[in-house]
Amino acid sequence: MTANTLEALSIEPSGKALGAEILGIDFAKPVSADICEAVMAAWADHLVLLFRGLSLDDDQLLETAGLFGGQQEAGSRGYFVKAGFKAGETNNVATRPGVSIITNLGDDGKLESRKAAFGNQPLKWHSDNSYVEVPPTGGLLHAHIVPVNGGGETSFSNQYLAYERLPADLKAAIDGKHIRHDDHRNTTGRLRPTMTAPTSRDDITGPSHPIVRVNPLTGRRALYLGRHYEWPSSFIVELDDDESEALLGELWDHATQDDLTWTHDNWTAGDLLLWDNRCTMHARTPIDFTQPRVMHRALIKGDPVIAA
Ligand code: OGA
Ligand code: MN
Repeated sequence: MTANTLEALSIEPSGKALGAEILGIDFAKPVSADICEAVMAAWADHLVLLFRGLSLDDDQLLETAGLFGGQQEAGSRGYFVKAGFKAGETNNVATRPGVSIITNLGDDGKLESRKAAFGNQPLKWHSDNSYVEVPPTGGLLHAHIVPVNGGGETSFSNQYLAYERLPADLKAAIDGKHIRHDDHRNTTGRLRPTMTAPTSRDDITGPSHPIVRVNPLTGRRALYLGRHYEWPSSFIVELDDDESEALLGELWDHATQDDLTWTHDNWTAGDLLLWDNRCTMHARTPIDFTQPRVMHRALIKGDPVIAA
């Protein structure tokens, strides 16, 4: 069957709390408005979509982001630019501003042959770029080279369900409250270039976002936590430090429970994941540092965060 027709399109839900594989789509070829609408509907229903067997160059990846609302430059890029790196000089500042290269290869193209290298590290649960004023609506991650049974599995967690399943007292405790999001550290927990470690909440200068946000795609409420680092870091604006830390601890325990998740545990070159960054979080297992992993990511242009 020809790709990108309604006859070819099929949806296979993961059977877990979120995630579905979509067959019959090739983003390297034209995607008509009705097909795009069908994929959007599947995205709204399943939060994370897996497409397989694709071979998209960076321009095609950015065109795909365009189908879902446009591209957005990653927040992390600016720190490397500020530190003096030029476009195309390092994987941290890719040639195209809308693309991030997520890899354990160094800028010389060789494996970063240390377990401790940044690109080999596990990534804790997070949503992308919650530390910017208008975080991206979604993300696209396209596998170019993946390790074989060598880690780098990517998990997603359904934050609509996290909100809906909150005990009544926790729901009441976060009603109308905001988190100020820490922008000092990257997803592995290391300080970003040009940043110094915060010593109190006054040093946390990222934006405040509502703890419960509404996703305009579905009208549903989702828990919106961002990232979790050791204090001093992100905090609940309306509470003092101790109360904030205690409540954030409870929320994070609740939001990362196994029955809210689905894991893409068999990455294959050519896979493309599309996630909704408003209502999911994701995490990654560590990578076998003897095997290359190269992923190209595009973020989807955000809309202002809507409070519940
Ligand atoms: C990301 C991310 C996960 C992975 O690209 O935003 O968190 O599996 N990556 O590399
Ligand atoms: Mn991420």
